[in-house]
Amino acid sequence: MASEADFGVVGMAVMGQNLVLNVEGRGFSVAVYNRTAERTKEFVEGRAQGKNIVPTYSLEELVASLKKPRKVLLMVKAGEPTDAVLAKLFPLLERGDLVIDGGNAHYADTERRLSEAEKRGLLYLGTGISGGEYGALRGPSIMAGGHEEGYGLVREIFERIAARGPEGPCCGYFGPGSAGHYVKMVHNGIEYAIMETIAEAYDLMKRGLGMTPDEMAQVFSDWNSRELGGYLVEITERILRYRDPETGDFLVERILDTAKQKGTGKWSTQAALDLGTPAPTIAMAVFSRIISAFKDERAAASKVLSGPDPHLAVDRKEFTERLFGAAYLSVIAAYAQGFRQLRDASSERGWDLDLSEVARVWMAGCIIRSGLLAPIRKAFLDRPELPMLFLAEPFKSAWEEYHGDLRWVTAKAHEHGLPTPAMDSALAFVDAYRTERLPANLIQAQRDFFGAHTYQRVDKEGTFHTDWEAVA
Ligand code: 6PG
Repeated sequence: MASEADFGVVGMAVMGQNLVLNVEGRGFSVAVYNRTAERTKEFVEGRAQGKNIVPTYSLEELVASLKKPRKVLLMVKAGEPTDAVLAKLFPLLERGDLVIDGGNAHYADTERRLSEAEKRGLLYLGTGISGGEYGALRGPSIMAGGHEEGYGLVREIFERIAARGPEGPCCGYFGPGSAGHYVKMVHNGIEYAIMETIAEAYDLMKRGLGMTPDEMAQVFSDWNSRELGGYLVEITERILRYRDPETGDFLVERILDTAKQKGTGKWSTQAALDLGTPAPTIAMAVFSRIISAFKDERAAASKVLSGPDPHLAVDRKEFTERLFGAAYLSVIAAYAQGFRQLRDASSERGWDLDLSEVARVWMAGCIIRSGLLAPIRKAFLDRPELPMLFLAEPFKSAWEEYHGDLRWVTAKAHEHGLPTPAMDSALAFVDAYRTERLPANLIQAQRDFFGAHTYQRVDKEGTFHTDWEAVA
């Protein structure tokens, strides 16, 4: 076989197929391979017909069909399946060839695979690709990390296939090692927190105010035209309007209320804990999905544990307006925590991550794209070391303007037994962050009391221990 294809892709599930069509559509020839031959055949005889797409039926054939240095993108399931492909692919490649993992790999796996590639003289890029199936086809947001030389080999392809943002193509190289996959992981953590915030707003409007999906869609449509505008708010409006063709009812109300997860939100939270970075809104979003999965237990508990009437006796217009402020601050908190985590990870790992560039790459194509990313980018351009988004405009003013609404909305929610863990955590997070003296002095005293863990004092230098039970 002639070695002429510009780019190789392994894994022909929908994301893989769509990326192939995107790359081919931008003027590159693509060789494709899938573990099961039927899927490759189906693809080349169907969607790929008449295109510059070369089917191959073994990894050997795929490798032989590529121009050197070869560039192979893996679009296979994260974890075991990725390792299985790499174990076969690595030995077939030659020094200077590039492997790109485009899945949602755990960053520690990426570090391990990258050093394995390095030992073999291969280049490796752990690359987060966001935007779902549509994004893969029309323009995703691409977050690459690993060997910079490898990025040089695919920069042109990535820039052509990525979403066009207001500030250039939404792809970037974020640093060595697992920087790309780490950025994508935190992207997903933020994604979880925004989704949970929106779900809480929906619950407050539905159970609290008794609004219909249509009426709620109108509220989200309004929010989408304001500072909160973004992809997740936009699809929420569309979801709420969608009618089930089978029953004619609003489909959303026919969907079982247990949220699934593939792990990236959990990893993001675990990584925040490892770093010692506060990411409570992201964490609460993960825990909320976990609680939602206790469906049977919740159903049983609902018969045992009582609570107040969820109906909110408030003016609907006033409530939805103040809910906007509450949701807005909760979403800002999600980004603020995510960016802080990236800042801390970067300094711990020596990535020299450019946070304004992360914001730029998230401006289009990805799931968390929103109107907030332009001011976030500006905040980090003005002050690259900015420790917390809330300290910069327009977020500082947003806090001043809306924290009263966040307090009022969550207080109403508590009063009526409606859970708002993301919004609560956002409020507590900023309240703690802006408090000069927290009650941690008491915790230190308790630690010292039961475990002689020692403490420091505010009035003199040194480390102290008290025999708290000594009789005076
Ligand atoms: C994206 C998404 C995507 C993720 C899904 C599902 O950026 O396109 O983050 O990568 O896999 O959102 O994630 P969960 O199954 O964990 O909700």
